[in-house]
Amino acid sequence: MGIQLPVVSAPARPSPGVGRTADARDTLGRPLRDLRISVTDRCNFRCVYCMPKELYGQGYRFLPSAELLDFEEIVRLVRVFVRLGVHKVRLTGGEPLIRPGIERLVQMLAGLDGVDDVTLTTNGSLLASKAAALQAAGLGRVTVSLDSLRDEVFGQMNDVRFPVSRVLDGIDRAAAVGLRPIKVNAVVKRGVNDADVLDLARHFRGTGHTLRFIEYMDVGHSNGWQLDEVVPAAEIVDRIDAIFPLEPVEAEYPGEVATRYRYRDGAGEIGMIASVTRPFCGDCTRARLSAEGFLYTCLFATEGHDLRRLVRGDKEDEVIEGALRDIWGARSDRYSELRSSATADLPKVEMSYIGG
Ligand code: GTP
Ligand code: 5AD
Ligand code: SF4
Ligand code: SF4
Repeated sequence: MGIQLPVVSAPARPSPGVGRTADARDTLGRPLRDLRISVTDRCNFRCVYCMPKELYGQGYRFLPSAELLDFEEIVRLVRVFVRLGVHKVRLTGGEPLIRPGIERLVQMLAGLDGVDDVTLTTNGSLLASKAAALQAAGLGRVTVSLDSLRDEVFGQMNDVRFPVSRVLDGIDRAAAVGLRPIKVNAVVKRGVNDADVLDLARHFRGTGHTLRFIEYMDVGHSNGWQLDEVVPAAEIVDRIDAIFPLEPVEAEYPGEVATRYRYRDGAGEIGMIASVTRPFCGDCTRARLSAEGFLYTCLFATEGHDLRRLVRGDKEDEVIEGALRDIWGARSDRYSELRSSATADLPKVEMSYIGG
């Protein structure tokens, strides 16, 4: 059967909170709420849809550590972003847990006035060993990527033969120390892991973790994306619904990335991130900061804004705030809504550099 996707209303206008001045609005009236910070462009996986080995091999030049924003610089920027309306901070990479001392950054961010939610997206490989320290540092919850439960398929997708069991251990450990609710992200690529969708659904049903399927996206250029490799979210919903009946769930907040469904038998929820077949740019309140301090106002942006120059250039916070307001005020991005053969060749930034 076909299921109707729920409709999301227009963005609400929360009143300014701690340390906030007026909320920034872009040219489409969208506020800035969510800051995603890449803390490294490195990763210990080589997922075929993100960092294919042929391009990210021995000779690839990752950012030298002196080029990365240090934790104090990140925190200073976040303080300024809060003044513009940011409430949520998500740490990404590359793989954020390979950045040395990441727990210290979490602690610094969790202590900031106006930041209500500090979270992190990880491939789960180091989560079992780091979960307790992250929780103690003030991390609220985690999102873990896992594309298949079969070692053969997962190993082929992460391309370093990383075993499923170690990611599952990470998820268990994170849940045990209280980093809940856990979201599990699975990118679906036709002909690679689309046969794994039901197994994943079955496995996470009833665990309290929310499984989300992500449509394979044309981020960057290195993955050689083709439209026929995308499995539309509606197809995934139908497949799961046929075995485990589903019903749509109202969006929790405007601009929610995932469209959610609940199992009719009460075994929890799943989500669909349908950036290709059902773009959600209209409510997009997200900005992305690269590890070297460039600000991108869209996942598919072609250009970033150099904030490191401002932070290291002796500028007052007010000057940085003014620059951020100008950047956000000029924003008109809505790549997923405009996606076409004409946008395909734009020099887009890579996912591993900008974070998910
Ligand atoms: P929370 O609501 O804070 O749990 O996070 P979220 O729903 O934003 O989810 P998360 O950050 O885990 O995002 C999941 C995935 O959705 C990302 O890894 C991206 O692949 C995709 N995604 C997130 N934000 C955007 C966006 O702005 N545009 C597009 N096209 N995809 C996005
Ligand atoms: N399409 C969709 N999702 C992607 N991710 C990485 N590259 C892509 C892509 N091309 C996902 C990862 C992870 C998150 C950071 O983004 O699997 O869940
Ligand atoms: Fe690493 Fe995540 Fe990219 Fe995979 S998707 S290569 S885990 S950054
Ligand atoms: Fe936001 Fe760009 Fe994604 Fe659209 S494509 S939702 S504007 S990040």
